[in-house]
Amino acid sequence: TMKTISWPYPRVVAHRGGGALAPENTLAAIDMGARFGLRMIEFDAKLSSDDVVFLLHDDKVDRTSNGRGAAAGMTYAELEVLDAGSWFDARFAGERMPTLDAVAARCAALGLAANVEIKPCPGREVATGRRVAAEAARLWAGARLPPLLSSFSFEALAAARDAAPALPRGLLFGGVPKDWRSQTAALECVSLHADHRKLDARLVEQIKAEGLFILAYTVNDPARARELAQWGVDTICTDRIDLIGADFLAAT
Ligand code: G3P
Ligand code: MG
Repeated sequence: TMKTISWPYPRVVAHRGGGALAPENTLAAIDMGARFGLRMIEFDAKLSSDDVVFLLHDDKVDRTSNGRGAAAGMTYAELEVLDAGSWFDARFAGERMPTLDAVAARCAALGLAANVEIKPCPGREVATGRRVAAEAARLWAGARLPPLLSSFSFEALAAARDAAPALPRGLLFGGVPKDWRSQTAALECVSLHADHRKLDARLVEQIKAEGLFILAYTVNDPARARELAQWGVDTICTDRIDLIGADFLAAT
């Protein structure tokens, strides 16, 4: 197994690229994260019907684009013509759902580390985990920091482990289940990622005692971010990149 001894990632990650300040999961969002000084971004990756890895949070394109329907049934050629910016603000008109290739290139250009959340379309867990991990390994080969792969899907993360064993993995939870130790061990995770509202000082201590690093999402209150850091949370994922900057937790 490849457990990291010290946590190499920044202490603050921009949720969906640019948090609340840009249309999620677009190149403009990544630019916004960098503009606010963040050094790591999180984004959601899934497969089009023709197996292109691209960024989108929901199963459907409706909320975050001018299209309609399930992404699983659309080719990337159909997805890439959709406007993924105007729903957020007219000044982002023309933003697209980018491919993982384009995202990796932008991260490299901006010097940003990446948390690639594998967010499979329903029923495509294994194929998505395998493909995203293989692509991430290829696209980030030689990068200063490897991309941190994460997923709520155990099956997707297991497929990612098999496809790219050397890439670090974090298992995502809402509420942390009783069997978090066996699940993270089976996947050889370096980290556990949890909804910050489900964490307390004791649970953080137990997770750390297991040798796991902790990422807490989605933390938008600076006082709460400080509290989590004091408990031992390693990294927080935030929408408020304007309030919780890259160096926010440096002194804690
Ligand atoms: O990875 C942290 C966070 O992004 C998980 O929740 O729904 O925003 O992808 P969600
Ligand atoms: Mg996410």
